[in-house]
Amino acid sequence: MKRFVMIAAVLGVAVAGVSQAATVAEVKKTGVLVLGTDPTFAPFEFKGPDGTIQGFDIDIARAVAKDLGVRLEVRAVGFGALMPQAVTSGRVDMAMSGITITPERAKVVSFSQPYFRSAQVFIVRAGNPGKFAWPASVKGKVIGVQGNTTGQFVANDTLKPRGATLKVYDDFAAGLADVRAGRIAALVGDAPTVDDLKKRLPGQFEQAGKDLAAEDYGMVFRKGSDLAAAANRTLARLKASGEYQNLLKKWIVQK
Ligand code: ARG
Repeated sequence: MKRFVMIAAVLGVAVAGVSQAATVAEVKKTGVLVLGTDPTFAPFEFKGPDGTIQGFDIDIARAVAKDLGVRLEVRAVGFGALMPQAVTSGRVDMAMSGITITPERAKVVSFSQPYFRSAQVFIVRAGNPGKFAWPASVKGKVIGVQGNTTGQFVANDTLKPRGATLKVYDDFAAGLADVRAGRIAALVGDAPTVDDLKKRLPGQFEQAGKDLAAEDYGMVFRKGSDLAAAANRTLARLKASGEYQNLLKKWIVQK
């Protein structure tokens, strides 16, 4: 076995069912585009009542697969493992998970063109009982972030130096539960998810203060993969045909 793994490693062959397709030609050959996503992030990706993973990102990925003439397979991967290891190791062909384009990440993966404008914001309990405000009242507060996200990066850079204590969650939902229970003053998260929470769970959460940082989401591929250009062509097609605007209306709360 050891010897097989060694030889496989030398030849660059997939071991233990790893999907190694990373190019348009390879995806077409297998007939499947494997999408990795962390489905705890409505309205972009979440489990519906029947357990299937759905959302804005999933519909876009499905359009990319359709244009390639292949089937989309959606795999749930925790955000910590998704970015970037699941992509760089070839466990998935593509990742979409409300993933923010950053120069650091762009060193190790390839991004599509931006497909959604977003921002990092503070999520607090409805009514803001702690009177949390940004930037005024950060000092001495415990603020939650999801690990390995841009929320954590921006909090490290701007909230820690101002005297906040950061609490890191693997799971975004666990952070929300702590906000609701009043265990943390605020949770840093992505703006569209707050609007969605307000709609789905009325009277529980709201945004406090100004946006922390604006950002853009991109689709993620292995470094240098021609799948990124294919995704850009699909994105352009969806925008030109009006389907992109329909997906916005279908999934994203309009302010
Ligand atoms: N936009 C942030 C980032 O790229 C957070 C994304 C979290 N996505 C998720 N499905 N939990 O780091």
